[in-house]
Amino acid sequence: MKFFIDTADIDEIRDLAATGLVDGVTTNPSLVAKTGRDFFEVLSDICSIVPGPVSAEVAATDTETMLAEGRALAKVADNIAVKVPLTPDGLKACKTLADEGTQVNVTLCFSAPQALLAAKAGATFVSPFVGRLDDIGQDGMGLIGEICEIFQAQPEITTEVLVASIRHPIHVTDSAKMGAEVATVPPKVLRQMFQHPLTDKGLDAFLNDWAKTGQSILKAKAAE
Ligand code: G3P
Repeated sequence: MKFFIDTADIDEIRDLAATGLVDGVTTNPSLVAKTGRDFFEVLSDICSIVPGPVSAEVAATDTETMLAEGRALAKVADNIAVKVPLTPDGLKACKTLADEGTQVNVTLCFSAPQALLAAKAGATFVSPFVGRLDDIGQDGMGLIGEICEIFQAQPEITTEVLVASIRHPIHVTDSAKMGAEVATVPPKVLRQMFQHPLTDKGLDAFLNDWAKTGQSILKAKAAE
C-alpha cells in the first residue's frame, strides 16, 4: 500500500517525508487555503520534497477551464497529479489530460458507479471519501470494498483506489485488507499509526534493563 499525506502544510510534509514512508501528497482547495500561501509556491515546495505524485486540484467547474488550469498546474513539476471533481465536466477533462500523459486524480467520489466512470475516463487515481460518508452515517468502508471488488474483477482497469477522507488508522488497515492501492492520511493519522502503549512500555523496560548492565554498544565497538 502507498501512503500519501493529506495536507498542504510544508512543515508537516517535510517532517513526515523524513521517515522515508511517504509516497505522495494530496492537497485540495481547503487544505491550500489553510496555509494562507500562494498555491503555486506551495506546490513547488511540496514537489521539491516529495518525488511521488502530488495532487493539485483545479478550481474551475467547466471542462475547458479545468483543462487550462490543469495544464498550468502540471507545469509546476513532473510529479504533479491534476485533481478534478467527479462531475461530467471533470471526467471530460480527466480523459483529455490522461490522453496527454498527465496523471489525474478524480476526487469527491462517493459511489461505485462514480468510481467506474472515473476509471473509464482514464483516471490514474480515484479518491473515494470514506470519512465523509461515515460522518453522515453511511458505510464508507463498504464503498471502498465495493470499488476494490469491481476494479479487481475488471483487469483492464488500471486506475488506483486512493482512499481519502481518512479519520483514523482502522480506515487505513481496512482499506489495505480490501486491496486499495493508496491511502492518503492526515499527518495526525500517520503519527497515530506509529503509536502503541505496549511499544512504549516495552522499550522503556528494555532500556532500563540495558542501563543496569553498565555497557555501551558504541564504546565496546571503539575498544576493538
Ligand atoms: O483531500 C481529500 C480528502 O482526503 C479530504 O477529506 O473529509 O478530510 O476533508 P476530508
